[in-house]
Amino acid sequence: MKRVGFVGWRGMVGSVLMERMRAEQDFARIAEPVFFSTSQAGQLGPDVGRGGSPLLDAESVAALGEMDAIVTCQGGSYTKAVYPKLRAAGWDGYWIDAASALRMEPEATIVLDPVNRSVIDAALDAGKRDFVGGNCTVSLMLMAIGGLFNAGLVEWVSAMTYQAASGAGAKNMRELLAQMGELHGSVAGPLADPSAAILEIDRQVTDCMRAPAFPTESFGAPLAGSLIPWIDTQLENGQSREEWKGYVETNKILGLGEAPIPIDGICVRVGAMRCHSQGLTIKLKDDIAISEVERMIADANDWVRLIPNDREQTIRELSPAAVTGRLQVPVGRVRKMNLGGAYISAFTVGDQLLWGAAEPLRRMLGILQD
Ligand code: HSE
Repeated sequence: MKRVGFVGWRGMVGSVLMERMRAEQDFARIAEPVFFSTSQAGQLGPDVGRGGSPLLDAESVAALGEMDAIVTCQGGSYTKAVYPKLRAAGWDGYWIDAASALRMEPEATIVLDPVNRSVIDAALDAGKRDFVGGNCTVSLMLMAIGGLFNAGLVEWVSAMTYQAASGAGAKNMRELLAQMGELHGSVAGPLADPSAAILEIDRQVTDCMRAPAFPTESFGAPLAGSLIPWIDTQLENGQSREEWKGYVETNKILGLGEAPIPIDGICVRVGAMRCHSQGLTIKLKDDIAISEVERMIADANDWVRLIPNDREQTIRELSPAAVTGRLQVPVGRVRKMNLGGAYISAFTVGDQLLWGAAEPLRRMLGILQD
């Protein structure tokens, strides 16, 4: 892999990708990293160990066509505009993409190598060239309980999600914080007075979040002090698009096209910054001892961490506050449910910018270089 082009490396997912690639010294393995820009072609690009060089035009099919691989975090509109032209021009390099635009195309493989390395290897053997990162919630669920799926034990899963602001974008993270600030500001005076009545404080906070001036431009509704039980667009069957992805992408990642596993749930935006959490109900095919279930979860990959179903440890280690910025994917609250011996509960938290976005892409680039 000689020349690798990077597009969208300055946005939120792209910046995390760059951070991770620098931390792992990935750039040292690439003969010629080339940086593109949709708006600043000609300006000096980042120095990744060889001095900076001018940014190339990310819309130029000729310049992109010189690359052996292209990694893009530029978003779905860019993919839809540029990818078809590039392929139509005869480019046969590797396209590695964070956006969802190509994910469900038959030619594309969704990459999450700790879970589906065999699917990736089969795609490479078959000469496939398009490798796309999965939906963050799906990737994080599979990093957490991939061990049960790959053991063939899962009959179905219900995933109730608690998704962070970052999944909606950088502007949304800012809006969440702005909302938090507005709410606090609306009651700063009475809050400082320990004898002020809490119901009066609550009334003022509610008035504040319902006021037309409350900043909701990005989310369309208050999130701080509230939640939003709909993520992405509305489908005709009543699901949100995010919920639909849970089913189709999980089965595509696992290569279960012929015999898909039912997966459904409700996806909810909550006031976390960048960690998605999920409450899972897992119907197993057999009534298996919980110690065996725990062992299969814990042994599945190097990043999953089984948190014993203990109150103190759960509160300390199984939260967005504990997991943000880390690659570990903790899974806890694992127990048999009252529903029956084959029904298992689990709760998992993961950084949606790491395993949910950047990490599978940088690892796919690494696989191409092996
Ligand atoms: N669609 C996800 C969300 C993030 O809105 O949280 C990207 O996979």
